[in-house]
Amino acid sequence: MKVIPKVEISNGLMMPAMLMGTFQHTAFRQLNKVVRTGIEHGFTGFDTAYAYGNEAHLGQIINECIRKDSMQRDDFFITDKIDIWQMQQTNGDVTQKVEDALQLLNTPYIDLLLIHWPLPGYFVKTWESLIRVFEQGKAKSIGISNVHMRHLSQLTETTGFMPHVIQNERHPLRSDNEVFNFCKSGNIVFQAYSPVCRMVEPLAASMELNTLAAKYEKTVGQIILRWHVQTGSVPVFMTQKTTRIKEYAGVFGFTLTSREVDAISALDINYKMTPESVVCPGF
Ligand SMILES: NC(=O)c1ccc[n+]([C@@H]2O[C@H](COP(=O)([O-])OP(=O)(O)OC[C@H]3O[C@@H](n4cnc5c(N)ncnc54)[C@H](OP(=O)(O)O)[C@@H]3O)[C@@H](O)[C@H]2O)c1
Repeated sequence: MKVIPKVEISNGLMMPAMLMGTFQHTAFRQLNKVVRTGIEHGFTGFDTAYAYGNEAHLGQIINECIRKDSMQRDDFFITDKIDIWQMQQTNGDVTQKVEDALQLLNTPYIDLLLIHWPLPGYFVKTWESLIRVFEQGKAKSIGISNVHMRHLSQLTETTGFMPHVIQNERHPLRSDNEVFNFCKSGNIVFQAYSPVCRMVEPLAASMELNTLAAKYEKTVGQIILRWHVQTGSVPVFMTQKTTRIKEYAGVFGFTLTSREVDAISALDINYKMTPESVVCPGF
């Protein structure tokens, strides 16, 4: 079986250096196709959330791989998320919501449990609840998604327990350098969602990226994902196409020069694909 390299989280847990996202894969058949193709190409890390409506499907597929394909639970790395309404409904004590997620996924533990959005008024209470879930071993690591420095300062001032992992939007048009550099200096793994920014025109047509793609005989997507790997972020990509999965598995076989990495970083224009104030009221 092909293997995607791993990175180490501060608590010693190993996480694949690239994960597959599952947002929009609501149909079992489609999810099954991409997850199984992913496994063939070495991808064993999968990102879900209650809001994606596919935890049960993902759990079923992983458990079938364990039963029939002699894989083990610890061959997989499952990232799941606690959503805004779950925080509101429980006033931040999300213990039962985690139990529900474990049941849907049909697994004794989640590898990484994230707060999906730092909802004002609920965020710190929910974080305290996640710390308890982590201490009980039901989540092997915990973290937060969609954070700014002000949220991290809040955690420092309250619980003092910093996330093992942060999952933010990051791609060449949005380096998110403040949070990214904070993570680097604090030994926090940075997962990058929308890693190719859904290949919007400024990336697809970028002279810089296309020149590098021609030089290395790679696609623009592979060049961007290689930039993530070399700068130290862990991409969480999504695709409907099995051919794209094979393409992305080829990211670990070449190296950009440091000057090329810097040139890609210089494309940053603080472009945001997911609008925060729409998704998270009061953000
Ligand atoms: N924490 C959060 O709040 C949050 C927010 C958003 C996403 N996420 C997670 O991150 C995952 C990835 O997010 P994302 O979908 O925004 O990531 P992405 O990988 O940047 O974008 C994927 C989209 O880009 C398209 N694409 C890729 N390469 C292309 C190319 N060369 N030409 C045309 N289209 C191309 C894909 O289409 P094809 O199907 O053709 O490949 C797909 O529709 C999600 O599934 C989810 O798990 C988390």
